[in-house]
Amino acid sequence: MPPHASPSDIPTPQTAFKASSHASDGKTHILLAATGSVASIKIPLILSALSKYSNISIRLVFTTSSLLFLPPLTELLDIPNVDGIHLDHHEWPRGLSSNPAETPVNPDQQQEEDQETAIWSKIGDPILHIELRRWADILLIAPLSANSLAKIVGGFSDNLLLSVIRAWDTNKLIAVAPAMNTLMWEHPVTTKQVKVLETEWGWFRVLRPVEKLLACGDSGSGAMKEWSTVVLWIVEEMRLKLEGEVGST
Ligand SMILES: Cc1cc2nc3c(=O)[nH]c(=O)nc-3n(C[C@H](O)[C@H](O)[C@H](O)COP(=O)(O)O)c2cc1C
Repeated sequence: MPPHASPSDIPTPQTAFKASSHASDGKTHILLAATGSVASIKIPLILSALSKYSNISIRLVFTTSSLLFLPPLTELLDIPNVDGIHLDHHEWPRGLSSNPAETPVNPDQQQEEDQETAIWSKIGDPILHIELRRWADILLIAPLSANSLAKIVGGFSDNLLLSVIRAWDTNKLIAVAPAMNTLMWEHPVTTKQVKVLETEWGWFRVLRPVEKLLACGDSGSGAMKEWSTVVLWIVEEMRLKLEGEVGST
C-alpha cells in the first residue's frame, strides 16, 4: 500500500492564519474538506481538476480518519491553487476529545510551545475555525462520512471541521457529498439526518450518492457522486472560470 497522510505531514505553523490577510486577494475562497470514507481517495483528482481554474484559492480541512485515504499531504500542497492544509492539531495540539486542561503535560513547556506556534494562547489571538469560516466563500465536504453527517446534524463540534461548520455563517453554502456503505445510507437515521439538511437547513446542499459496486464489495446506493460531477457542481455554483477563459460577468 502506498504511504498515506499523517498529521505530522503539516506541523502547526509558526504564524496564525488570519482571514483578513486574504480578504482582498480577489479570489474565490473554497474550503474543501474530507472525512473518513474511502472516497477521500478522490481528493487529489478533485484538486487536480480545480487547479485549472483561475482566481481561486483552496484550503483543505481533513478529519483524522480521512488521512488514511490521502497521500502524504505535502503532495497536495504542490497542486496549483492549494494554499493551505488545516488539521485538528493546529487548533488543539493535545487532542480535543479529552479535556486538554487535564492532559498530563509540563504546563510551562506546553505554554512555551503554544507561544512559538499558531496555537491560541491569549485573548486577541486568532481562532482557527473562526478564521476559516470568515475566509471561506463556500465549504465543500467530499466525501461526508456517516459519522460526520450525524455529528453535523446533532450540532457536535469536537474537531476542526465540525467547529467550522458549527460556527458557519448561514448566508454562505455548505455542500456535502455523502459516501457510505449502502446499509448505512439506507438506515432510517441517515434518512432523517439528510432530511434536516435538505429541508430545514437552507444553507446546505446535498450532492446525493449514486449506486455502484462499493469499495467494501456491497452493491447499491451510498457511493459518493462521481468526483467530476462534484467538481462541475462547484464550478457552476461559484461560476469558476478556466485559466484564459473570458468571464461574462
Ligand atoms: C477502510 C475504511 C473505510 C471506511 N469507509 C467509510 C465510508 O465510506 N463511509 C463512512 O461513512 N464511513 C467509513 N468508514 C468509517 C469511518 O472512517 C469512521 O466512522 C470514522 O469515525 C469517521 O470519522 P470522521 O467522520 O471524523 O472522518 C470507513 C472505515 C474504514 C476503516
